[in-house]
Amino acid sequence: MTVPFSFDLAATDGAARTGVMHTPRGDIRTPAFMPVGTAATVKAMMPESVRKTGADILLGNTYHLMLRPTAERIARLGGLHKFMNWDRPILTDSGGFQVMSLAGMRKLTEEGVVFQSHYDGSKHNLTPERSMEIQALLGSDIVMCFDECPALPADRARLEDSMQMSMRWAKRSRVAFGGRPGHALFGIQQGGLDEGLRKQSADALQEIGFEGYAVGGLAVGEGQEAMFGCLDFAPDQLPTQKPRYLMGVGKPDDIVGAVKRGIDMMDCVLPSRSGRTGQVFTRNGVLNIKNARHADDPRPLDEGCGCPACSNYSRAYLHHVFRSQEMISGMLLTWHNLTYFQDIMAGMRNAIATQTFAAWEADFHRTRAQGDI
Ligand code: GUN
Ligand code: ZN
Repeated sequence: MTVPFSFDLAATDGAARTGVMHTPRGDIRTPAFMPVGTAATVKAMMPESVRKTGADILLGNTYHLMLRPTAERIARLGGLHKFMNWDRPILTDSGGFQVMSLAGMRKLTEEGVVFQSHYDGSKHNLTPERSMEIQALLGSDIVMCFDECPALPADRARLEDSMQMSMRWAKRSRVAFGGRPGHALFGIQQGGLDEGLRKQSADALQEIGFEGYAVGGLAVGEGQEAMFGCLDFAPDQLPTQKPRYLMGVGKPDDIVGAVKRGIDMMDCVLPSRSGRTGQVFTRNGVLNIKNARHADDPRPLDEGCGCPACSNYSRAYLHHVFRSQEMISGMLLTWHNLTYFQDIMAGMRNAIATQTFAAWEADFHRTRAQGDI
């Protein structure tokens, strides 16, 4: 018998929560950070290395994979898990959000979106039904509803129309998803920064019923203060007993602030992308390894980190390979950044379980403010 998808909330501390999502491909400890594997790879990382950083789940993208190498090809080759050699859970985003930010020409209607590939200009069609079909072909464990989200700031009428269309698309997504035991479909709340629209959206989604609920339409240019303002009410509008996923977030302090406000899962390209541009996140703040001041520095990136970059290499070496554009630079810096993000999640899970989140958070901010890194 297939293990059903389920979520067990184990402990709370203030609004912060810790628990476990159970799936047939393994458990996901929450709060969870999902590294982004857009093109069926977390760039510069072997999947077994991603696992060693502490990740329980990866994120993949409908938009990119449908264009290249196509969902049908991945399905013929045994599905995304086999294709990319990651046998643990995968969550896939539904494509609408990426079409709006990446595609060339695009035309949005009630039916869905017609767009031109940013790779070769070819024309494609994405609807709630097609997005569900693609995510099923990929074999995604957590499927996201097909939605749409305007860039902020947007006026209330635009936000309301867009949110209501996303709710009609959520219903069509639920119907098209059908019965896939052991797999989950998550709804996506929209409504910008407006509390009333967010509530309408949350109610519409709960009326349909999902295995989890995402907060969408944030981290789109509104700034951290406005995002936290929205997270002061949005998670509370969603069911307590289901996982809550904040999409596309964020920097370490965004992640900590989101968990503090009741978020269980997040994803962001930041740790992996930054690893390739030389930006390094550490317990004492952010540094850029290309800076000349690292050239003679025998210290590791982060004294408190147990990753291979920190255990075996100096800042001087990492500076040298970055400047020389050696591939190991992106590999080691990505490994470090992903490890640091996962260490933050593990720290928060432990702090919530032991009711010490406030002290953990104060320590997190204090060490990062020490400077001199
Ligand atoms: N990624 C970041 N924000 C969003 C959103 O609002 N919707 C979807 N589908 N993906 C996202
Ligand atoms: Zn490290």
